Amino acid sequence: MTNTTNLNSTPTTTHTREPILKATNLVKTFGKVVGLDGVSLELFPGEVLAIIGDNGAGKSTLIKCLTGAEIPDEGRIELDGKPVHFKRPQDARSAGIETVYQNLAVSPALDVAANLFLGREERRKGILGSVFRVVDTKGMRKKAKAELLELGISTLQDVTVPVENLSGGQRQAVAVARAAAFGSKVVVLDEPTAALGVRESKQVLELVKNLRDKGIPVILISHNMPHVFEVADRIHIQRLGKCAATITPQSHSMTDAVAIMTGAQTA
Ligand SMILES: Nc1ncnc2c1ncn2[C@@H]1O[C@H](COP(=O)(O)OP(=O)(O)OP(=O)(O)O)[C@@H](O)[C@H]1O
Ligand SMILES: [Mg+2]
Repeated sequence: MTNTTNLNSTPTTTHTREPILKATNLVKTFGKVVGLDGVSLELFPGEVLAIIGDNGAGKSTLIKCLTGAEIPDEGRIELDGKPVHFKRPQDARSAGIETVYQNLAVSPALDVAANLFLGREERRKGILGSVFRVVDTKGMRKKAKAELLELGISTLQDVTVPVENLSGGQRQAVAVARAAAFGSKVVVLDEPTAALGVRESKQVLELVKNLRDKGIPVILISHNMPHVFEVADRIHIQRLGKCAATITPQSHSMTDAVAIMTGAQTA
């Protein structure tokens, strides 16, 4: 199904709500290279927004600007309607934007529960925790179990298993679970299924759907069109540093999406 006159429209179902995250006219240059050339994006509650585009189209730069890893030269970013100026990834994280980078930020030697609480370890009650800084391993394991259960991650029965013993999909699940576990407002995934097998990819896609069903919107960068068309509510197409179009799986086919991405079809 092709509808070239409708390329920049947002579905009416999402129009009625305010965006959680809104970027307006972001510009980012690297010397003479223009990474982002006036890109705008809106992320609505409970939606999966995919970002697709050819190599060098500006996908990662866009994500980095939204998550504090890069500072845009120009433009505005608003979270919950308020302007934000992230200087570091930690700023975005504190504000509720959790990012799972492609090179998985999990620690292989630590167990599942320890990975979930990495950088946010909970201490034992009383003097043991406050003075001697003893971590509450038992408590964290219990919470980790509950969190995995709530996200529907059934393949990780034992939270005391070191992450290095897990499959790629399970590791990805741990990273996504960590992002979801701390009351995040937004979860950003950069190529989460790129290195995974069919079954593992399916698990991660299910997880993305579970996050959405919990009301947490997800931004998903992917080169995999079937994955994108399976989970995305809307698809932002980057081309040469600009947003070429925002489409939906209903308004356009995968062939259309690729054609817009490569410039064979114009918006
Ligand atoms: N730190 C940097 N220094 C110089 N140029 C950069 C830097 N980061 C990105 N660029 C350039 O900005 C443009 C956009 O790059 P970006 O990484 O955002 O593309 P991408 O869409 O993520 O591509 P890919 O699919 O290959 O990951 C490219 O031309 C890239 O070379
Ligand atoms: Mg990239």
